[in-house]
Amino acid sequence: MDPLPHPPTTSTAAMKANEDSAADAGILPAEHWSSQLGISDDKSLFDSDKESTKSLYPSIFKYRTIRGRTYHPETTDAQYWATNDRAQAESLNINHHCFTLALAGKLFLAPLNKKTCKTALDIGTGTGIWAIDFAEEFRQATVTATDITPVTPSYIPPNLTFEIEDCNKIWAFPNDHFDYIHIRWLIGSVTDWDRLFERAFDHMRVGGWLESYETSAMVESDDGSVTETSALGQWGKIFIEGGRKFGMLFTVVQDGTQRTAMERAGFVDIQERDIKMPIGSWPTDDDAKEQGTFTQAALEQDVEGYILFMAETLGWTRRQVLIYVKNVKREMRSKKYHAYYKQKVVWGRKPEKPVRPQRASTVSSSADTIRGNEN
Ligand SMILES: C[S@@+](CC[C@H](N)C(=O)[O-])C[C@H]1O[C@@H](n2cnc3c(N)ncnc32)[C@H](O)[C@@H]1O
Repeated sequence: MDPLPHPPTTSTAAMKANEDSAADAGILPAEHWSSQLGISDDKSLFDSDKESTKSLYPSIFKYRTIRGRTYHPETTDAQYWATNDRAQAESLNINHHCFTLALAGKLFLAPLNKKTCKTALDIGTGTGIWAIDFAEEFRQATVTATDITPVTPSYIPPNLTFEIEDCNKIWAFPNDHFDYIHIRWLIGSVTDWDRLFERAFDHMRVGGWLESYETSAMVESDDGSVTETSALGQWGKIFIEGGRKFGMLFTVVQDGTQRTAMERAGFVDIQERDIKMPIGSWPTDDDAKEQGTFTQAALEQDVEGYILFMAETLGWTRRQVLIYVKNVKREMRSKKYHAYYKQKVVWGRKPEKPVRPQRASTVSSSADTIRGNEN
């Protein structure tokens, strides 16, 4: 697999192949979106670029760039599909609020005990906002948060440390160490969910809890208002097809991957909760309306930063991406689309007598010893 960023596809044959496979996946051609808006002048499309380029972090971090937006640093060959600049960070922070609203103000659902939870790990922490809140709530615990991108919060609680680590490679932590491992919103970032949860299992103490909170990429509606050919209805298709091209899974929630991978790793007492996260202020119920309003705000903050890389893998131009983004925003603002996306929280415990069902491809229960060539 190529590391990020992919250059735009330029050869005619490659572009044709791209168009064919996108059409097979039910993705409308990029030109469709200009006719939806009746765009006559490009100027308004590019005005927003000034904002996104203004906020780049210092070049010392050597971020990769696609069309002026920055991605994770060149120091890792990990692949990640969203930008890592300020617009994206603000979106992640608003989304954190959405996720906690969905859990009725809680940061986790596992039955944690403040007296016994002494070590916690947050994988793929993003802006670190969840880890900061958790460290504040669990003052006696030592909390570690990892990501492939440097995290630069203005305030860090004394019991929290940030580390750069690729979760798809061997973890630099002791075995049997953590009382709680939290993994949220890593769709499209994990090369092998079985292996990820096996690692979590190995690095966790007996009795510790793993919690996985994932989102679907598909935008749906119960009343048919989000059609397959609406901009919102196309969103998930673009991610799933783009992810297929760079070898990352965006169907974790639909496929039930979290529970299966937890069972295979050897976790027990597994529980799960399904969530429907509204997008937009269309719901009549007050709580759902609040969630939907914040979800819309989070997406509006950086629709481009989420979709740009995926659209690039489909061969779209910057102009086509911006026009599609306008269509997504128009639909979110209109209360006609009763849109939501599914989420799933799954949590499980490492038992006293760990037994890991053998994977067909493995010969030993120790993930790291059998995969010694990963680093
Ligand atoms: C959608 S964000 C979610 C951030 C955070 N977990 C949250 O819920 O707010 C995904 C994060 O995973 C990080 N990430 C992607 N690939 C990763 C990898 N291989 N190892 C560690 N972190 C990764 C990204 O840099 C990004 O910060």
